[in-house]
Amino acid sequence: MQIFGLDIGGSGIKGAPVDLDKGDLAQERHKVLTPHPATPDGVADGVLQVVEHFGWTGPVGLTFPGVVTDGSTIRTAANVDKGWIDTDARALFGERLGGLPVTVVNDADAAGVAEMHFGAGRGRKGTVFLLTFGTGIGSALFLDGRLVPNTELGHLELNGHDAEKRASSKAKEDEDLTWEHWAHRVQKYLAHVEMLFSPELFIIGGGVSRKAHKFLPHIEGIRAEIVPAQLQNNAGIVGAAMHAAETAVADQAS
Ligand code: BGC
Repeated sequence: MQIFGLDIGGSGIKGAPVDLDKGDLAQERHKVLTPHPATPDGVADGVLQVVEHFGWTGPVGLTFPGVVTDGSTIRTAANVDKGWIDTDARALFGERLGGLPVTVVNDADAAGVAEMHFGAGRGRKGTVFLLTFGTGIGSALFLDGRLVPNTELGHLELNGHDAEKRASSKAKEDEDLTWEHWAHRVQKYLAHVEMLFSPELFIIGGGVSRKAHKFLPHIEGIRAEIVPAQLQNNAGIVGAAMHAAETAVADQAS
């Protein structure tokens, strides 16, 4: 079965039809730049462009880089326009996509679900975190494979700062940090999360997962295993489509 997966990030809106049996993109993904400011209207236009690029007319699963409650209401907007807060995202995207069935889920939660099912977290029990390092830091917490949604650990306070402002990959770019220097900040962040939750496994996602060999060797002193995401930066797209498939099943059952 195929469902369209779409990942809304701070820098790009990217999507593709997803093969849910394989947990992989069925076609090469298409990306448009996230508008600045990333208002609901501007982002919805970007979403429409990506979906229209494929001439897709079926269900669409979307991610959002903020807290999503009730499967639709946006509660936070750290790296997008504040106009998102309290937006009914399902209604907005559904209307802009001409009535296609849509679902919305936090971006890190989507990536986590995809990694637990098809990637680095397959079959892993206990406490597992997927952390995405991109424009912000996203977190997805799993206990014995079950997601605890909307954890928002990118906003833990680290040395008096919002952690994502120091250790996201955007911070690395903005401050022109070397991989080693940035890895040191990531290490401090992981040590803090480890102190609070004692997880068995950290899965590192986001665009930097492709370059794990450049920074993971510099991270020391963490008890938990640390591995890069296997679906790399496509985990959000795959997870968005998985979430849409699950929601459709749940909707039919209710
Ligand atoms: C947001 C999270 C999101 C993460 C990654 C954070 O700033 O608060 O909801 O998952 O960025 O996009």
